[in-house]
Amino acid sequence: MQSKLRDRDALYKTVDKQRVAANFSRAAETYDCAAALQKRVAARAMLGIPAGFQPERVLDLGSGTGSQTVILNNTFSDAHVTGVDLAMGMLKFSRSRKTEASWCAGDIESLPFKDASFDLVFSSLAIQWCEFETVLAEVKRVLKPDGLFVFSSLVKGTMAELNHAWQQVDSHVHINGFEPFGLQQQTASLSGFQVNSLKLQHETLHYPSVVTLLRELKALGVNTVHSAHQGLMNRTRLQKLEEAYENARTEMGLPLSYQVIYGTFSK
Ligand SMILES: C[S@@+](CC[C@H](N)C(=O)[O-])C[C@H]1O[C@@H](n2cnc3c(N)ncnc32)[C@H](O)[C@@H]1O
Repeated sequence: MQSKLRDRDALYKTVDKQRVAANFSRAAETYDCAAALQKRVAARAMLGIPAGFQPERVLDLGSGTGSQTVILNNTFSDAHVTGVDLAMGMLKFSRSRKTEASWCAGDIESLPFKDASFDLVFSSLAIQWCEFETVLAEVKRVLKPDGLFVFSSLVKGTMAELNHAWQQVDSHVHINGFEPFGLQQQTASLSGFQVNSLKLQHETLHYPSVVTLLRELKALGVNTVHSAHQGLMNRTRLQKLEEAYENARTEMGLPLSYQVIYGTFSK
């Protein structure tokens, strides 16, 4: 456990939040068109909200372009819904939407809200860039008694093929580090939340080429978010990456794995 915790600390110390914000800000205009998996995952995550649940105040963590915030706003039309995000470009895009939802700049790990402010905290594919333990403590703080936390996130094994291909090119960190599912299960059980459900689902996307894969990740803002120097992409490095990735090709194309978790926790 000690060494697992050390690994986790090392993982998060290297995540550069300014870079996360800059990458997502740049992707604000292209995100929605490229986000097929993200939309599917968010729709599945929303199934974790129990039928008949009637929140008065809802928070969407890492609201991105705001598409899920708007769905929450339409679903809970009597509620006040707020989207919070680190990336100013994403917030600017959200604010251009015609909706009654509110938008707020903030960090999921240090939320700019008072204790016991929300009945429902929702988040889809945003908390994987944060320390899970800190997220749970913050969400617990801002939830009202009996409040719900419904989320999706990514765990270790996500983008394993791309990571493996990069490892054959150089020793830089190119892919975000993701916590192992087992560690998140442990963290959840120690969080003081009632874990109603926490499931892992594997998804694999396929691409015709490395170039199309990298282009899609860029459109989504999912560039590497570690502060270490990674070396610039040039023709030689791209060629090496393509050669290395070819070993993973299947009949369907170049695979890219996502290990998606879905959780419903109550306070
Ligand atoms: C992959 S997008 C998902 C957006 C939206 N939830 C969706 O499902 O379409 C992740 C979003 O989380 C935001 N994000 C990442 N880390 C964050 C943090 N520490 N605090 C607030 N937002 C964060 C990013 O800026 C980005 O807009």
